[in-house]
Amino acid sequence: MTYFEQVTEAADFLRAQLGALAPRVGIVLGSGLGAAADAVTGATIVPYSAIPHFPQSTVEGHSGRIVAGLLGGAPVVIMQGRVHFYEGYAPLQVTFPMRVLGALGLRAVLLTNAAGGIAPGYRVGQLVLLADHINMMGWNPLNGPNEPRFGFIPGAGLRFFDMTEAYSNALRALAHQAAAEEGIVLDEGVYLATPGPSFETPAEVRAFRALGATLVGMSTVPETLVARHMGIEVLGISCVTNLAAGLSAAKLSHQEVNETGRQVERRMAGLLKRLAPKIAARMEAER
Ligand code: HPA
Repeated sequence: MTYFEQVTEAADFLRAQLGALAPRVGIVLGSGLGAAADAVTGATIVPYSAIPHFPQSTVEGHSGRIVAGLLGGAPVVIMQGRVHFYEGYAPLQVTFPMRVLGALGLRAVLLTNAAGGIAPGYRVGQLVLLADHINMMGWNPLNGPNEPRFGFIPGAGLRFFDMTEAYSNALRALAHQAAAEEGIVLDEGVYLATPGPSFETPAEVRAFRALGATLVGMSTVPETLVARHMGIEVLGISCVTNLAAGLSAAKLSHQEVNETGRQVERRMAGLLKRLAPKIAARMEAER
């Protein structure tokens, strides 16, 4: 069975579970940020283990299930937990779930993550919209033969595609609106992805700052790449769970990342609940 056929089989399985719900908006919840899934009404819950060919999340703080239903009244499909390269998954496995979301008919995805803050002035616990990214993973999930059938959206699925607006300006504007309604101020930053799993050295953090990064993490970029390959609009939201290595006296730990995530997840959930209907309305208008 080809990769494309596996994706199709997984998407067909999920579509059958979702019944009449036809979401256009997907949300991926990162480390310690799972709370938005609790705000979903009429939820259909599907553990990753039940979905054909789906990779399993092995990281603490990532629960590993799909929660589909209404968020703020808008149909959404949420991935509560993601898989990462550092878990030992190959690039095509890391991005399998995003391909499935594309095959399900999604038009927009909101990718959340925990990140180390590099920019001076960032505070632990703040939310930052991704304006752009730098791929330092050392690989690209689109290496290999192009599969044009991933062009579910007309014009997408190309071998070479533009990444000028990797993170949608229009979705960012809606996020700023939603944040203002929630009384939150959102900064914008540049997310640099490393393969992990070790945190950075202080010298690496200084180097990344010189390169223009304001955030560092171990996810999101592969998902953004395949989403853009499929013509899906992307919004990225980082939670600054810690200052990056060398920028504070504290030692970095996954526990700190999860604890900050837990302190912030209500705010993140409030933002996503405001934002989902705005983005859904935009996607419906484009249909
Ligand atoms: N570095 C890399 N990834 C991270 C960090 C960090 O400091 N914090 C949360 N995810």
